[in-house]
Amino acid sequence: MSMPPLDESVTVDEAGIWDAEAIAQVAATTFPLACPPEAGEDDIADFIERTLSAEKFAEYLSSPERTVLEARTGGEIVGYLMAVDAAPEDPAVAEVVTARPAIEISKMYVMPGHQGSGVSSALMEAIIARATSLGRAGLWLGVNQKNARARRFYEKHGFTVVGVRTFVVGAQTHDDFVMQRTL
Ligand SMILES: CC(C)(COP(=O)(O)OP(=O)(O)OC[C@H]1O[C@@H](n2cnc3c(N)ncnc32)[C@H](O)[C@@H]1OP(=O)(O)O)[C@@H](O)C(=O)NCCC(=O)NCCS
Repeated sequence: MSMPPLDESVTVDEAGIWDAEAIAQVAATTFPLACPPEAGEDDIADFIERTLSAEKFAEYLSSPERTVLEARTGGEIVGYLMAVDAAPEDPAVAEVVTARPAIEISKMYVMPGHQGSGVSSALMEAIIARATSLGRAGLWLGVNQKNARARRFYEKHGFTVVGVRTFVVGAQTHDDFVMQRTL
């Protein structure tokens, strides 16, 4: 397998409301890559329309609890991360996330041509630095149980599986692992 070159020109910045459209485009391209093979096309399209539209990103970008980080190379947004600085609402998550207060990495997506290039690590390092500077005790996330690449990526960054949860995509329910990293 050929690997993309390490991308040393990557910059990570907090996104602004004016980036909503561009981030929604990256989100629509990359969300299907995180879904298991049995995910239905209609369910994925429904999720993108309801959750990853430019209007939704404009809402996320205006929410005081949420932070969207964007990674750029050569001026283009090639990846983004959305963090939520709030206590987990899902009881299955609340039970297993022991680091409190913790920040959730709610979305973490890199364009296919930029995976394996350091863009993802730059995003992850930026949110870990932010969580540390805010004095949070840890970070947590949910990842589809069949998404071996993402799970390996999170393990490399110090996350371990602490539990499971379900995640609704359209009419389907997917099985996730819950992973946590303490700081
Ligand atoms: C998840 C994601 C952000 C990780 O970023 P990345 O740049 O691909 O991560 P890296 O290349 O640094 O690390 C991936 C690791 O998984 C390994 N890997 C690749 N394919 C794999 C597979 N099928 N099974 C297991 N491990 C795999 C890689 O070899 C690498 O490990 P290594 O560095 O020890 O060799 C990125 O792949 C992505 O955006 N994927 C699509 C969207 C997604 O799944 N997002 C996560 C939602 S929770």
